Amino acid sequence: MSSQPRLHQHGPETHAFGTVVQLPIALSHDARQYSCQRLNRVLADTQFLHALYKKHHWGVHGPTSYQLHLLFDQHAQEQLALVDALAERVQSLGGVAVGDPRHAAEITGVPRPPDGIEDVPAMLSRLLDAHETILAEARDAAARTAQLGDDGTQDLLVSQVIRTGEAQVWFLAQHLVATRPAGA
Ligand SMILES: [Fe+2]
Repeated sequence: MSSQPRLHQHGPETHAFGTVVQLPIALSHDARQYSCQRLNRVLADTQFLHALYKKHHWGVHGPTSYQLHLLFDQHAQEQLALVDALAERVQSLGGVAVGDPRHAAEITGVPRPPDGIEDVPAMLSRLLDAHETILAEARDAAARTAQLGDDGTQDLLVSQVIRTGEAQVWFLAQHLVATRPAGA
């Protein structure tokens, strides 16, 4: 016996990405595998939407910067909660959740933003486009997973991903409404 921790250990992969293990939740292998595939796409997209919100939280500028700085961080926190909920849903279906951002980058449909800073209206439009990409994906995935009997996944997508996304779009879009200058 030794109190020396055994460091730098390596081991084989025990559960391959894209496969599902059997769990006694009364859902077929194929339904669980399909749900995991759809959830991982939404998960990857949501990871990048979260990152986009943080990038814009840091880079926002101009007269509305403080208000948007706070709004972007609020939305980022809500998206981060969705990342965790989606990942844990994948695991609870017997799958493997996409974790590494470099892996997520291969799966997401959300375009990469420029490394620098855009105008605020372009930031807002980029966020709205990312939301719409996720909402389209989540609506289709919700309908199809429900058809396969996976009501838990459908519920997560509808009651959390879609509802949160729709509310965030509503708040963002108000910042692109043209207001009349004073005295005009
Ligand atoms: Fe911050």
